[in-house]
Amino acid sequence: MRWPLSFFRNLATCSWKAKLTAFNHAAGFYPTPLCVARQMLELAETSPRDVVYDLGSGDGRIPILAAQEFGCRAVGIEIDDSLYRYSVARVAELKLENQVSIQRLNFFEADFRPATVVTLYLLGAVNEQLQPRLGSHLRSGARVVSLDFAVAGWNPEDVRQVRSVNDVEYTLYLYRRCPPVLREGIVPVGSQPCPHRDLA
Ligand SMILES: C[S@@+](CC[C@H](N)C(=O)[O-])C[C@H]1O[C@@H](n2cnc3c(N)ncnc32)[C@H](O)[C@@H]1O
Repeated sequence: MRWPLSFFRNLATCSWKAKLTAFNHAAGFYPTPLCVARQMLELAETSPRDVVYDLGSGDGRIPILAAQEFGCRAVGIEIDDSLYRYSVARVAELKLENQVSIQRLNFFEADFRPATVVTLYLLGAVNEQLQPRLGSHLRSGARVVSLDFAVAGWNPEDVRQVRSVNDVEYTLYLYRRCPPVLREGIVPVGSQPCPHRDLA
C-alpha cells in the first residue's frame, strides 16, 4: 500500500498546528513491499559489517530483513506503540534479539550515529526536516536510501525505478556520506574522493 492521495489532501487543508503534529508523528504506516525493501538494501550495498537504521520502522520488516538476508545488525525506530510492540514481539519470535533492536522513539530525537545504512519511507517534507540531523549524525561512507521521496538539498548518487511483485513502480534515491575534505582536493588517507555533494 502506498501513501494515499487523501493523506496529502488532508494535510493541505489542515491548520499549521495540525500539520506540525502530523509531521512530528509523520503519518501512518504504509509498509514497503519486501521485494522493494530488499532492493533498497541491495542498492546501499548492505553487508554484514553494516548497521542498518530504519527511521519509522513500522512492523519492523526492514530491520528484520536486514538481519535475516544481509547478516547485519539493525535498529528500527518507531513512534507508534502498537507497531513498536508488534515488531519487538516479531523479533523475539524470530530469535533475532542479538541482531535487531527496536526503539520506541521519535526519530527527530533519536541518536542514529552508529548507522552505516539508513532507510527512509517518509514524506519529502519529513525528509527535509530530518536532513540536518542525518548530516550531522552520519559518518563518512554511510548510505541513505529513501523510497519515493527525495531528500531536498542532497544530490543522489543513484536514482532507480523498481517494481514490486504487484507491478507497482517505486523510486529509490541513494545518498552517500562523503569523507571530510581536509583541504581543498585532499581527503584522509584510505578514503576515496567522492564525486557527489557531501550529505552534511
Ligand atoms: C510509511 S511507514 C514506513 C514503515 C517502514 N519503514 C517500511 O518501510 O515498511 C512510516 C512509519 O513511520 C512511523 N513514524 C512516523 N513519524 C515518526 C516519528 N516522528 N518517529 C518515529 N517513527 C515515526 C509511522 O508510525 C510509520 O510506521
